[in-house]
Amino acid sequence: MATSWVNSAERIGSDLHLELTGPGGRRAALIRALREAVRSGRLAPGTRLPPYRSLAADLDIARNTVADAYAELVAEGWLTARQGSGTRVAERAEPLRPAARLPRKAPARAHGPRHDLTQGTPDTSSFPRTAWLTSYRRALQQAPNEVFGPGDPAGRPELREALTEYLARARGVRTEPGRIVICSGFAHALRLLFGGGVLRGPLAVEAYGLGFHREVLAAAGVRTVPLPLDEHGARVDRLGRERAVLLTPAHQFPTGGPLHPARRAAVIDWARVRGGLVLEDDYDGEFRYDRKPVGAVQGLDPEHVIHIGSVSKSLSPAVRLGWMVLPERYVDAVLAVKGDREAWASVLDQLSLADFVVSGAYDRHVRRMRQRYRGRRDRLVAALAEHAPLIEATGIAAGLHAVLRLPPGTEASTVKAAAWQGIALDGLAAFRHPDTDTAAGDGLVVGYATPSDHAYGPALEALCRALPP
Ligand SMILES: Cc1ncc(COP(=O)(O)O)c(C=O)c1O
Repeated sequence: MATSWVNSAERIGSDLHLELTGPGGRRAALIRALREAVRSGRLAPGTRLPPYRSLAADLDIARNTVADAYAELVAEGWLTARQGSGTRVAERAEPLRPAARLPRKAPARAHGPRHDLTQGTPDTSSFPRTAWLTSYRRALQQAPNEVFGPGDPAGRPELREALTEYLARARGVRTEPGRIVICSGFAHALRLLFGGGVLRGPLAVEAYGLGFHREVLAAAGVRTVPLPLDEHGARVDRLGRERAVLLTPAHQFPTGGPLHPARRAAVIDWARVRGGLVLEDDYDGEFRYDRKPVGAVQGLDPEHVIHIGSVSKSLSPAVRLGWMVLPERYVDAVLAVKGDREAWASVLDQLSLADFVVSGAYDRHVRRMRQRYRGRRDRLVAALAEHAPLIEATGIAAGLHAVLRLPPGTEASTVKAAAWQGIALDGLAAFRHPDTDTAAGDGLVVGYATPSDHAYGPALEALCRALPP
């Protein structure tokens, strides 16, 4: 309870038993003493402290010293200062434990390895800051006032129109804006579709894939059934009673090949005959380095494929924007799960991305990054040819990572050897579905987008030192 300072003005110094002792001078001693008085409960929450001049006189110290000590304790959260009501002990004077002390996983790369060759992140130094800012500014200037109200859960029409044109041109997707629903990325799409009950398991998945996505599905109560992989991609001929299948047809993640054309046709046949659904994860479809474009499976049959993409690889995973291209019969159900208003994907970012696409900045960025990643890939292949000629790199026609094939039984020791060289990366085993019999062999999944230019050469040298002879 607050006690009035007015009544106890003459007694506070001695009542508080403030002993200004210890190192660091009078100011530090006063701060320590007051903090201790609050912590011990001698000064209860709400208690009004004496004015500077009174406490200074009482303790025989300078007024400024008291003022400084109060200011410091206000900044730390022990005291509050308000015009007209003086300085008081904060209602919640026990400072909150800093979040860093709560038990939580250490940030993955806080004091991490010197060379980050894990897959997953694009080149963060190449985010098109200026072009994005131009699009953001233009979008903001042109936005009608209603943009600043609640957002449409389908996403801004400007973005859905821009994506309709872009995905048709760049990925062979056949759609129209009414069948696109904006989300905050691929993982969010999975949560909406399965967590929201639009789709149900069991879901067939590739025997190797991102564990995080399997976790998202498991959390939604979905049983995943692994499909074996071979040199032509997922064995879709093994599809059985599953209701849907999740594939990475343009660039199998992580092993790297495209789904063979016959398998693309076969999976569509399965969906038509069995009433099944193909979920197409088109995570890095823009980044192909050979001359054979691999379009989206969705283009073969828009009524049996949900095509899902995001800007996480092409721009940055920090933007958190993605899209679902849906068969018409799923649109209302997905919108119902999203609710009355947009709650995930920033409407202003959506408008920026729409401008970014329509103005051609997105194409320019993708072209520039394609060249850059191709250069990275070529340097990796050249380093292997020179220093580890027996190690083959596969899955290199596309994407931001390669798989280095290792002699049988050497994957775990090579991952360890890489760690000794200060390299973070994963072996293929890290991506394997726990229930699969398929063994994709021993290999390293090497992400080549992340290191900065000056760090990439040393990272490759360290990698080559870690590889078996
Ligand atoms: C296999 C795969 N799918 C999808 C994504 C995209 O995920 P999100 O859009 O949730 O960032 C990634 C990572 O960028 C990925 O590696």
